[in-house]
Amino acid sequence: MMLSKMLYICKNIKYIYPDGTIALTDISLNIPTGKITALIGPNGSGKTTLLLILAGLLKPSRGKVLFRGTEIDKYQNFRKEVSIVFQTPEDQLITSTVYDEIAFGPRQLGLNNNEIEDKIFRLAKKLDITHLLYKAPYQLSGGEKKRVAVASALSTDPSVLLFDEPFSELSYNNLLKIIETIKDFVRHGGSVIYTWHDTNMIMGLADYIIVMKQNGVTAGEPRDIIINEKLLAEVGLELPLIVKIYKTLTGKLDKKIPISYDDLIKFLYKKIYG
Ligand SMILES: Nc1ncnc2c1ncn2[C@@H]1O[C@H](COP(=O)(O)OP(=O)(O)O)[C@@H](O)[C@H]1O
Ligand SMILES: [Mg+2]
Repeated sequence: MMLSKMLYICKNIKYIYPDGTIALTDISLNIPTGKITALIGPNGSGKTTLLLILAGLLKPSRGKVLFRGTEIDKYQNFRKEVSIVFQTPEDQLITSTVYDEIAFGPRQLGLNNNEIEDKIFRLAKKLDITHLLYKAPYQLSGGEKKRVAVASALSTDPSVLLFDEPFSELSYNNLLKIIETIKDFVRHGGSVIYTWHDTNMIMGLADYIIVMKQNGVTAGEPRDIIINEKLLAEVGLELPLIVKIYKTLTGKLDKKIPISYDDLIKFLYKKIYG
């Protein structure tokens, strides 16, 4: 990948929490622009810490983070361009109505009331929360809170969406909405970086995968990462079901492997009907 096209370049970053916990030892990685990047690893491997660093909310104890080639502190519109959705929506929802929650960012940016209202209704429709706009965020269900948090993150028209464990505690309908929102965001030119803790959910939903290890990361295209049994075993991640099926039926793991469930169905169809 060309370095000039990189959204983020992290060089030798280390993060130590105030209590002395070393959350990241020495991480170097590049994150591409205009793609969906999945950051995977077991609990405690430092995914959230890294995401908070990419959001500019934590400063690495050592090392450098470049955003579009410039250090985050020196990048003019960083706050406007980059939004984050926390794993727990409660950490993010601060106002007394859903409407105000989504209006918060645009108001900070100085948009006028008409523009803000248009934006809110458009986002509310997209995330199916129009009926919730005048409710208090704390009264909502988990899935509703998550959708409000996403609408709020999108309200400033960011180009980058950072998403911590986007699929946790969601019913199937809500899950589909979140997946569609991620795909739609990238289809319209944005970049998404999300964390997740197993390999199955991310199949077909990642253009680039970063695996968090004890000492650093291994990153690559999905086809290179998911067939790397040694790597996945090393970090304690399960071989995706698609990979297990492919391996059982063909006796090998190679680059022809399906990486989405649609591809898997095509592969099985061919296998059965020729
Ligand atoms: N506020 C904090 N203070 C001290 N240690 C922390 C804090 N937050 C996370 N950690 C520790 O840092 C390590 C990485 O955590 P985290 O980034 O949350 O991992 P993940 O998101 O992959 O589960 C873990 O050992 C965790 O216990
Ligand atoms: Mg986490």
